[in-house]
Amino acid sequence: MNNAKIVGIGHHVPERIVTNDELSTMMDTNNEWIIERTGIEQRRFIDPSKDTLANMAAKASKIAAERANIKISDIDFIIFATITPDYFFPGSGVLVQRELGLEGIGALDIRNACSGFIYALSIGEQYIKTGTYKNILVIGGEIQSTALDLTTRGRNTAVIFGDGVGAAILQPSTDDKGILSTHLHADGRFAEELYVKDPGSSRPNEERQPEQILDTSTYKVHMNGSAVFKHAIVRFSEVINEALDKNNLSKEDINLLIPHQANLRISQFLQKKLELPDEKIYNNIMRYGNTTAGSIPIAMSEAWQEGKVKENDLVCLAAFGSGFTWASALIKW
Ligand code: ACO
Repeated sequence: MNNAKIVGIGHHVPERIVTNDELSTMMDTNNEWIIERTGIEQRRFIDPSKDTLANMAAKASKIAAERANIKISDIDFIIFATITPDYFFPGSGVLVQRELGLEGIGALDIRNACSGFIYALSIGEQYIKTGTYKNILVIGGEIQSTALDLTTRGRNTAVIFGDGVGAAILQPSTDDKGILSTHLHADGRFAEELYVKDPGSSRPNEERQPEQILDTSTYKVHMNGSAVFKHAIVRFSEVINEALDKNNLSKEDINLLIPHQANLRISQFLQKKLELPDEKIYNNIMRYGNTTAGSIPIAMSEAWQEGKVKENDLVCLAAFGSGFTWASALIKW
């Protein structure tokens, strides 16, 4: 069985840069607090008059296809990880398929939040290994900005999230390179520690009618920040070690760790725990905030552009997020 290999990666972020100082004009917060707790200096917000999740995804996908040296028409399956699809249903997989003019091919949507891209990659990996598809487009991305409560009431989460999309093309590898293994986990006991309740189906009919909704806070992210922090630091290192053990490798073998960009403090904690030098971990949350399913493919695309991901490198992807879910992938580039 052939490994699945990432042969092209691209990303697209909206033009509008929103600094911490700009957020401070909307809510009671400040640059120092945000930087100290999260490391975030700025993020991108869409222009709702022109950006959609599907059209940003199409832009990232075209870059990935070009770098993979394939035509868009070669793509034979789409997997799209997002928790902020353009519509409540259908998912954005079919919308990016339409944007790309790929009518007829399958389009699958994944809702595993911050772990979504690795879950999507893992599914793509299985389809490649079984020979079902040959050029799979795997996308991760979000439009978070339009859902944020940009008032003081929402400040504990509003300062964290941003918009952006990354995309990768998966093909069968012709040698021993590619995705060596993927590892997926979840623990639904903690579902409500980081979630958006509505518009879910957990309510009776009369409470789901828009005219009955008086309190819209349940449409916003609810996050128990300290619970997320505590679980994240344990699960991130656990799942990275699981991937290394599975492949008889050690942390010294990693050339680049690309963690989900949840919070710079979480990444720094992880770096210290794994004793990784600065050049072996990639962070760009300072520039983009937390783009949930977009964070890993955007970071991977930037790292590749900057020459930090080279042929034969061992790249480790790791994620933790809502669910709780956590996941890793070990890739020989
Ligand atoms: N600006 C200024 N003050 C703020 C802000 C803000 N944006 N947000 C909260 N505060 C205030 C609070 O109101 C509180 O004030 P009080 O003491 O008077 O009540 C004080 O700051 C401390 O609030 P906490 O919520 O306890 O803040 P904490 O120190 O825990 O930091 C944070 C919050 C950064 C979210 C932290 O919990 C954390 O890092 N958690 C990890 C979770 C995470 O990073 N999630 C990312 C998204 S999820 C994911 O990707 C997995």
